[in-house]
Amino acid sequence: MEILKTIISTLSFLQKAKAAHKSVGFVPTMGALHQGHLALVKRAKSENDIVIVSIFVNPIQFNNKEDLLKYPRTLEKDAAMLVSMGCDAIFAPDEKEMYPKPDNTVYDFGQLANVMEGKFRPGHFNGVAVVVKRLFDIVQPDKAYFGEKDYQQLQIIKSLVTQKNILVTIIPCPIVRETDGLAMSSRNMQLTAEERKEAPFIYQILQQAKAKANQLSPEELKNWVLQQIASNALLTAEYFEIVDTTTLLPITFWKESVHSIGCIAVFLGKVRLIDNIGLK
Ligand code: PAJ
Repeated sequence: MEILKTIISTLSFLQKAKAAHKSVGFVPTMGALHQGHLALVKRAKSENDIVIVSIFVNPIQFNNKEDLLKYPRTLEKDAAMLVSMGCDAIFAPDEKEMYPKPDNTVYDFGQLANVMEGKFRPGHFNGVAVVVKRLFDIVQPDKAYFGEKDYQQLQIIKSLVTQKNILVTIIPCPIVRETDGLAMSSRNMQLTAEERKEAPFIYQILQQAKAKANQLSPEELKNWVLQQIASNALLTAEYFEIVDTTTLLPITFWKESVHSIGCIAVFLGKVRLIDNIGLK
């Protein structure tokens, strides 16, 4: 497996692959890899001739400086995991390589970027779009893999690809969970032992919410979830929204949307976790 730190070495690696008519699968990440990331790599391996994973903690998508500083960086361990998955190359640029000068592109994702994560993390999705566009320009993958854990991010990426006419197929991948139900996240390692014990409560409530979706209106269900979270001393909900799976607009009546999803952001101490569940 190659560890590529520069754009030029990555281009030359990819040029060889493309000259040999090999299909390229791409998995963008910020590292601190876990089984959730590796599931994307495994899927990419099964559908492409070669797989490249990017590892770059993208400063411009962090709206909280402390979160950026605390973000785990574990390149050696990540590389070992990727070797064992049969990954062909890692693209791991530093900040200067990725942004020789600031990229001030402003994207318009309409309501997709105004709700939920977009509302509570201003600038976040613009930063994600800027880096993913730059990564797509470099890697020019046939297929790119994104997790449904970051459901709103997935919709933003689909919109970016449509808006910019990027020739890539976006492959959504299901959420990978710990055995106790907690959605895997690089941030889970920042939880204290006590917080980690409580964390599965989030998914338990989401599952119960799904079971209640036939008896309650979206508004009643939203309130019920928020009450359950409030009843847990360690957890503070930032939002729980029931939205249409494609527009991400909150719904008032179930019949407004063919498929709806419940998305949540919760603080456990200083750690902010997100999760979601398909409701109908
Ligand atoms: P990161 O949080 O490292 O996630 C990389 C990819 O792994 C994303 O597509 C994310 O949805 C997916 N992923 C993370 N945890 C998962 C889980 N438990 N199950 C399934 N998929 C999971 O998302 C980012 O990085 C960045 O925003 C990025 C797209 C790389 C741009 O900087």
